[in-house]
Amino acid sequence: MNHTAGITRRAFARLLGTAGALGVIEPQLVGMALAENKRSLNYLAHRTVGAEGAWELKKIEGKVPRNLNGTLIRTAPGQKETFGTPLQHLFDGDAYLSKLTFREGKVSLQSRFLDTPQRIEEQQMKRMLYTEVGTLAPPLPDGYKLKTRGKNQPSVNIIQWDGRYLGLSEGGPPVEIDPTTLAYKSEWNFYGTLPGDVPFTAHPKFDPATGEGYAYGIKRGMGLSLTVFRMQKDGKLKQLYSLPQPQYFMVHDMLLSKDHIIFVIPPVWVNISQAMGGKVAPFQALKFGDDMPTKIIILRKDGEGKPIIINQPANMVFHNGNAYEQDGKLHFDSILSPDGSVLKTVGSFDADQPVKTTPNHLTRVVIDLAKGELVSRTELEAEVEFPRFDERRGGAEARYLYTAGFVGRTDENSIVRHDLLRRTNKQVSPGKGRTYAEPVFVPHPGKNSEELGWLLTLGYDGAQDQTFLEIRDAATLEFQARVWTGIHYPLGFHGNFYAQA
Ligand SMILES: [Fe+2]
Repeated sequence: MNHTAGITRRAFARLLGTAGALGVIEPQLVGMALAENKRSLNYLAHRTVGAEGAWELKKIEGKVPRNLNGTLIRTAPGQKETFGTPLQHLFDGDAYLSKLTFREGKVSLQSRFLDTPQRIEEQQMKRMLYTEVGTLAPPLPDGYKLKTRGKNQPSVNIIQWDGRYLGLSEGGPPVEIDPTTLAYKSEWNFYGTLPGDVPFTAHPKFDPATGEGYAYGIKRGMGLSLTVFRMQKDGKLKQLYSLPQPQYFMVHDMLLSKDHIIFVIPPVWVNISQAMGGKVAPFQALKFGDDMPTKIIILRKDGEGKPIIINQPANMVFHNGNAYEQDGKLHFDSILSPDGSVLKTVGSFDADQPVKTTPNHLTRVVIDLAKGELVSRTELEAEVEFPRFDERRGGAEARYLYTAGFVGRTDENSIVRHDLLRRTNKQVSPGKGRTYAEPVFVPHPGKNSEELGWLLTLGYDGAQDQTFLEIRDAATLEFQARVWTGIHYPLGFHGNFYAQA
């Protein structure tokens, strides 16, 4: 184990982070010391939040476009320690919401931990009471009832739907969030149409042609099934399918084409006896089946017909890009890994030396819909994640896809623009000691071209120990503006931009 002045690097980093958050020492000194400590940028970028509050952001390099108006709302696991218990998994931690508001070239930030009942309970008790996805809670106080239900912290994604902000965890129902204060309102079951035993995906997809959404969940208990919903414009869910499954499994994302809903389901299964035994956290009971197939499941959006199921070699997958149909063929992009190492990487976040991930590939898959057969799969680019595109082209052919790229595996994630027509890529690095998160495409107002837009990307500067927002031209990746937040908060996974907050 590596040590720094007699303590582990992990403990040293935690100590410094705490000192910085409390204002005991200057953030810059914290950043320099952390950089000296040689923890990975990825680790530093996802450490516990430095502050909550609301700020007008005045330190801006370049110019924020005056016609960029709206809100970038994001969520992230906000802490990596709960009352003395280090959280081991990248996905662990209470939801921390950040809202960046753009008005006529000015930017403000509002951010806070989401005050879920479970978080309040832990804060009042001053101890960790709930097991996280990757970290077991310590033994509970005498007489305290064991928590059989998880936290349902919506730290994965946040969307606007039916006039509400809904935070999504994929471990339970959505959580409605007050759009002004970012306070917790309640769990939301779509006017009673989301069954209590079906957790809601963190990646619903929306059909720009109809304004409807599509979503899914894995129905628990007896009747284990992949349950698929249409999110109707009246705000209610309509169940389209309930596909029985032989065992618990994991699927994190979905795709939509003009007429179809697509799932790429990795061979990840849950060791139920281990999961129910209470000796390990839920994510530790996930197993990757090297000799099991990755399943592509294709369903009609109208709820009619039989599913097409195509087995492929074992690949891990979290995220997909867009999908479209042409001449009876379904084309879609998926980020496929050749093994399950990424599960170990995210699960060993807090280790001095996390497990290394085998490179993944953004892969174009083509399916013959009439035959129900795979036509081809082509690797387009290695080592990318968090795919986004111009969502006005959801389900139709979009030429461009944007991802965060792992530049030479240096830990300084880049922004990658994939030209799917020409099969070329362009990428920009954040600069030494910085890293980028998911790039969110925002179209120029009143323009329909895919070429006319911005990328809004959170980033982290290790030396300054500070989170920033960068704006780049989507077509050229040219720098437009960098807005410094003045604080450190985790980059998290997903968020969305809304012109109407
Ligand atoms: Fe995701």
